[in-house]
Amino acid sequence: MKQSRRIVLGITGGIAAYKAAELARLLLKQGIEVQVAMTEAATHFITPATLQALTARPVWIDQWQDAQGMTHIHGSRSADAIVIAPASADFIAKLANGQADDLLSTLCLARDCPLLVAPAMNRQMWANAATQRNVQRLAADGATLLGPDSGPQACGEEGLGRMLEAAELARDVLAFLEGKTARGDVGLKSDLQSDLPDLRGVKILITAGPTYEAIDAVRGITNRSSGKMGYAVAQAALEIGAEVTLVSGSVALTPPRGAQVVNVVSAVEMFEAVKREVARADIFIGVAAVADYRVAQTSTQKIKKSDAALTLQLVPNPDILAYVAALPRPPFCVGFAAESEKLRAHAAAKRKKKNVPLLAANLAQDAIGNDDNELLLFDAAGEHRLPRADKLDLARALLRHVVTLYQKGKKK
Ligand code: C5P
Repeated sequence: MKQSRRIVLGITGGIAAYKAAELARLLLKQGIEVQVAMTEAATHFITPATLQALTARPVWIDQWQDAQGMTHIHGSRSADAIVIAPASADFIAKLANGQADDLLSTLCLARDCPLLVAPAMNRQMWANAATQRNVQRLAADGATLLGPDSGPQACGEEGLGRMLEAAELARDVLAFLEGKTARGDVGLKSDLQSDLPDLRGVKILITAGPTYEAIDAVRGITNRSSGKMGYAVAQAALEIGAEVTLVSGSVALTPPRGAQVVNVVSAVEMFEAVKREVARADIFIGVAAVADYRVAQTSTQKIKKSDAALTLQLVPNPDILAYVAALPRPPFCVGFAAESEKLRAHAAAKRKKKNVPLLAANLAQDAIGNDDNELLLFDAAGEHRLPRADKLDLARALLRHVVTLYQKGKKK
């Protein structure tokens, strides 16, 4: 029989506090005991009465309210974790510095259980060097960060800092309690499964970023790809429980937590890595901007400059996506196409040529380096538009489509 599980749900002052009520409800539905502790600021956003009614327990707010004044010590002793959702910038700063000036921060400092933190704040507050320093320190101290997400914010701005949705947080917390690092193989009940597409137990192989083809010791040919879209696809796949292997060219991004990352430089290295990994993959998504050509003869020394013209012979690189799609038992293959003109015609032709069931097309000038994008999806049923959105939201929408087609294909 499963042991009973118990968490302390800490709510701090921010508009996302309203999502904490739904999070409490979802966790309770999974048979987890939820004890709510709120900061005074949080009570301005959501009433303790709401949380008390949902959890059927008195809400802890005031550290002076209990006669012995020991809630801050005993409060976490029987808990499997403290989950702070939402965690305001101010509360994160307190946690990072070990401050303890109210019941919730004192509980956190006196805890003997893991701490999970779901940040929620304005994008500038999140991007601020002080917040980033605090978050890094918290993570180095062993706290687990859940999110944040990006998208529209209550203040009207758009960007990174939004708290994850309650269903996503519930899934993360459950995965954590089950001892998994990613949103993995946990015994979720159907109400969570219906909120999100489900890829538990499914292995996804993703290529991302540019490749770099050396000319000599210091020079090379590459593509202007930031890797943001591929990393967003990896993040979105992890969120819905997939096991993700990310074969990545050189990018300046932190890989999503839970992904198995294989770093490569050139197209040939990417090809070798994909060949090694592909047998285990159920789905392959080629997001990488692979250089079409490499230099036939690379020089190990720096080529000396002279007044004479220099001719480089370029040879074609292997087409990784076409190779995977042509395997005898290929995974479900998804390609990307960045076109600078005639998007529809080029993309539809590319889907046929590479023989992939789904191709996501975008305008190169729209996509490269930007945080948002829009996609046109081409599959056997025709064309589907995913409207302009932040790349993570777009990746989530893309994965919904992928999951539908993948599951349909399996039923045949
Ligand atoms: O032919 P093109 O480069 O436009 O095709 C883009 C799609 O094919 C992307 O999914 C990309 O990751 C993949 N590709 C590849 N290997 C190559 C070239 C492209 O996997 N050599």
